Amino acid sequence: MTNDTQVLINQATEAAAKAHAPYSKFRVGAIAVAADGTTYVGCNVENAAFGESVCAEVNAMTTAVAHGVTEIDSVAVVCLDGAPCTPCGGCRQVMREFGVKRIVMVDGTGTIVEMSLDDLLPNSFGTESIA
Ligand code: THU
Repeated sequence: MTNDTQVLINQATEAAAKAHAPYSKFRVGAIAVAADGTTYVGCNVENAAFGESVCAEVNAMTTAVAHGVTEIDSVAVVCLDGAPCTPCGGCRQVMREFGVKRIVMVDGTGTIVEMSLDDLLPNSFGTESIA
């Protein structure tokens, strides 16, 4: 079952192995889980023009959106070259845009940890802030 946290972590680990990270050598994989349970994969993709690099979580979420997804339930993230690994601020803000509720990570001891986006991005700015 796709929402099982261990399955999500396994899938994110497979994605991380495909990262294009020749500059940082820090490989990250992510899985975005749509509201209907469908999963979308992403890895970090770096560029010689550093600013053009994309994070794994954003890659997974934007891939989901490109497939027609408007609401993302969960994101799982795995870093192969150092743990714990929590999403960067930019990734958290993109999660906010698509209603992510649950973030699944692995802590420094190898234990799977779940946090809410409210935990990771309190007092956040979103679409209703503009209206
Ligand atoms: N990275 C991610 O993919 N996700 C994060 O949440 C943090 C950082 C990537 C960006 C860059 O390719 C590498 O990790 C080192 O910062």
